Amino acid sequence: MATAGLLAAVVAATLGGVAASAGGPRPPATQDQSLRGLAARNGLAFGTAVDAAAYADAADPQYRSMVDGQFSTVTAENAMKWESLEPTRGTYDWAAADAFVAAAERNHQQVRGHVLAWYSQLPGWLSTGIQDGTIDGPQLRALLKRHITDVVSRYRGRIWQWDVVNEAVSDPWETPSAIHLGGDTGSLKQKFADLLGPDYLADAFRWARAADPKALLFYNDYNIEAFGDGGPGDKTRFVYDLVRGLRARGVPIDGVGSQGHLSTQYGNYDVLAVADALQRFTDLGLAVAFTEVDARSLLKNASDPALDAAGADLNARDQAAAYNYHVLLQACLMNPHCLSFTVWGFTDKHSWIPGWFKSPPEGAGCLWDANYQPKKALRTVQGDLAAAGPPLVRPRAPQKPRR
Ligand code: XIL
Repeated sequence: MATAGLLAAVVAATLGGVAASAGGPRPPATQDQSLRGLAARNGLAFGTAVDAAAYADAADPQYRSMVDGQFSTVTAENAMKWESLEPTRGTYDWAAADAFVAAAERNHQQVRGHVLAWYSQLPGWLSTGIQDGTIDGPQLRALLKRHITDVVSRYRGRIWQWDVVNEAVSDPWETPSAIHLGGDTGSLKQKFADLLGPDYLADAFRWARAADPKALLFYNDYNIEAFGDGGPGDKTRFVYDLVRGLRARGVPIDGVGSQGHLSTQYGNYDVLAVADALQRFTDLGLAVAFTEVDARSLLKNASDPALDAAGADLNARDQAAAYNYHVLLQACLMNPHCLSFTVWGFTDKHSWIPGWFKSPPEGAGCLWDANYQPKKALRTVQGDLAAAGPPLVRPRAPQKPRR
C-alpha cells in the first residue's frame, strides 16, 4: 500500500500539469518538476529536514506546500531529539514528533528518524547530570537503553532509516588531535562517550533493532565525505574502521549517513573522491545516504566587511555552493546503495546556518533563497537528476535490515 501510494504520488508529481500534444504527453520542463519526481527516476529518495514551527505557520503556507510537494523523505530537524521528547525526566511529550510522522505518511514520504544516541540536544536534566557527575555510567547506559527502546517502539514500522548513533567521533581540531570516540578533553561530548564506554555503539544498534526489526539502522556524522591521508587525523578512516568493526562483530548496522554540511570557504571535494568513499562503505555491505546537505558561504566580503552577500563575490559563492551540491549528488547517484539525498532545510528563510555559524556570519546554504526563489544550486541539482540514468546511474538497490 505504502509503495503504491508513493508511486502514485511520484507519478503525479512527475507528470502533473502535462498537456496532451501530437507526440503524446510531454513532461513539464525539468525546472518545473519536483525534486522527488526527478529523483524517483533512479529510485532515489530526495529529502529535507523539516522545521516544525515553519511547517505549522499558517502565515507561511509556501513552506509547508514545498515540504509536501518537493520531497519524498523527511527528517524532523529537532522534534525527535531527546530534549524535545523528554524535557522533564520520566515524562514524554510526543506531540510534535507524532504530528511530524503523521504528516509524512499523509504525503507518502519515507521518514528518517533523527536521532537516538547523541551527546547534543539532550534534555537539561540529563546533560547537567552528566556534567556534574550525578548521573554515572551505569545510570546513563540504562537511561539510553530506555530512551532508544521507548522511541523506536513508538514508531515501529513507520521509520525507514534511524540515525541510531550520531557524531560519536572527535574532529582533528579537538584535543587530543588523533581521532577518538568523544571530543575535546573535558567536553560533554567526551564525558558522554567515557561514561557509556566504547561498547555503547554496539548496544545502541542492538536496542534499536530489538525495538524495530524493519528500520534501517545508521551511523551518522559530518566531515566523512571523503577519505584523507589515512593517518590519525583522518576522521573518515576512523569511522570506516569503526563501522567495519561493528559489522564484523555482527552488530545490526545497515548504513552510514554522511551529513554533508559543506562551506564554500573551504574549497571543494571532487565527485570521484566522494564516490570512492561511498563505495568503500558500501563494499562493507552497508547502505549510504547524504543526510543533512547544505553548502553555506561567508556573508561578508572579506576585503570589505561592510558588504554583505549582495557584494561582488555573490556570484562566485553561488556557483561554489551549486558545485558542492553537485559533487555530493553525483557521487550518490553513481552508487546504487546510496538510498537518499536529504538537504538540511531547503530555503534560506528557515535554515540553521545563520543561527549556528555567527562569527564570522555565514548563510545562503540552501537550494531556494529566503524568498523561495530558485538558486543556481537548485538548477544544478535538477539538471543532475534529469540527466542521470543507466549505465552509470542505476536504480537503487533495496537495502534490507540485517540481523
Ligand atoms: C541542528 C538544527 O538544525 C538546529 O535547529 C538546532 O538548533 C541544532 O541542531 N548535525 C545534526 C543535526 O545531526 O541534528 C543538527 O541540527 C545539525 C548538525
